[in-house]
Amino acid sequence: PVVRSSLIEPDGGTLVDLVVPPAEREARRAEAAALPRVRIGEIDLEWVDVIGNGWASPLRGFMREEEYLQSLHFNSLRLEDGSIVNMSLPIVLAIDDATKEAIGESPDVALAGQGGDLVAILRRVQIFKHNKEERIARTWGTTAPGLPYVEKAIDPAGDWLIGGDLELLEPIKYNDGLDHYRLTPAELRAEFDRRGADAVFAFQLRNPVHNGHALLMNDTRRRLLDLGFKNPLLLLHPLGGFTKPDDVPLDVRMEQHKKVLEDGVLDPETTIVAIFPSPMHYAGPTEVQWHAKARINAGANFYIVGRDPAGMGHPLEKRDLYDPDHGKKVLSMAPGLEKLNILPFKVAAYDTEQGKMAFFDPSRAKDFLFISGTKMRAYARSGESPPSGFMCPGGWEVLVNYFKSLQAK
Ligand code: ADX
Repeated sequence: PVVRSSLIEPDGGTLVDLVVPPAEREARRAEAAALPRVRIGEIDLEWVDVIGNGWASPLRGFMREEEYLQSLHFNSLRLEDGSIVNMSLPIVLAIDDATKEAIGESPDVALAGQGGDLVAILRRVQIFKHNKEERIARTWGTTAPGLPYVEKAIDPAGDWLIGGDLELLEPIKYNDGLDHYRLTPAELRAEFDRRGADAVFAFQLRNPVHNGHALLMNDTRRRLLDLGFKNPLLLLHPLGGFTKPDDVPLDVRMEQHKKVLEDGVLDPETTIVAIFPSPMHYAGPTEVQWHAKARINAGANFYIVGRDPAGMGHPLEKRDLYDPDHGKKVLSMAPGLEKLNILPFKVAAYDTEQGKMAFFDPSRAKDFLFISGTKMRAYARSGESPPSGFMCPGGWEVLVNYFKSLQAK
């Protein structure tokens, strides 16, 4: 019998799965071993994982020049049937002169990890110029020094980009004790179907969950029930790839998220926690489109967005890099995301009058306390607790232990 899922269709119609089936792996690996080799870095590997499991559907590999230009200039890709899918970040692989030389005219190359282990094949490759300044300026809207992804993955990268169709020799494992959280879009869809979800609302995050975040998620659930949905499920979807050094690392966040569910801040019965393997760009309104688009592929038809998504402080000046309201405005208008229901939220802060996290009311601004990451660190360091109602005690304890361990270093 054909199982008919009520979930939103994957972007572009079909979910991409580029992992070689088990029966063919040995032969494909032997083929890869004979191909020119491209050594890839940690972040490249995260992108291999992202592309291979269909998070970027309908993209089937690292971008060739045509896709790259569309992404860079239009934040979207035009499909053969003329329809548009959103694609706001260029997903590209850089190589240096020597690697380009070694590839020569070979149509296919093998991708190898830092340890030399073969990871994937890239087919029908195309090599084109990597104009870093243009890529950075268009993606971030600035070339100011100090952008974390740029410093980590673009400045040191080669002057060429290599695009092609990707084939993963096997699923990527990180062996960090968290692989069971790394559900693929197909696995998430199967889980949502199994649980009979009639709506899925996704929450992207890279920070610990405080009660302000929870307010957004719980408010969404209430709204969906009011709209008549019977079984809306929350996808709590922390980003698992590269993050900047002063963000809380993934293992600590996962521990913290666990406590948030245990302490009942979020309902464990209607929440699925999984890791989104993408690296972070900190490209604000440009990047939040990627964050939203990828969740369509996992079956989410509602997407929560609040203050300054994917944002950070300006690396040189004392201000946010992006207007904190632009992320949600852009997302609500983004080409190719019309099928996704965007749920924009006002900023939440600690309301000292009510003694809890609440939506900011500008008419009594002085009652509100904004507790930033820096402030949390300061609380933890001094042994002081944040005001009660900011975060559940179990979750806060995880952070105190982490911040204290930093101090000891
Ligand atoms: S992000 O890089 O993943 O966007 P973060 O983990 O800080 O960063 O935020 C996750 C989501 O919560 C984003 O949609 C963001 O806009 C929203 N958000 C974070 N803090 C607040 C807040 N105080 N009020 C409202 N929304 C917020």
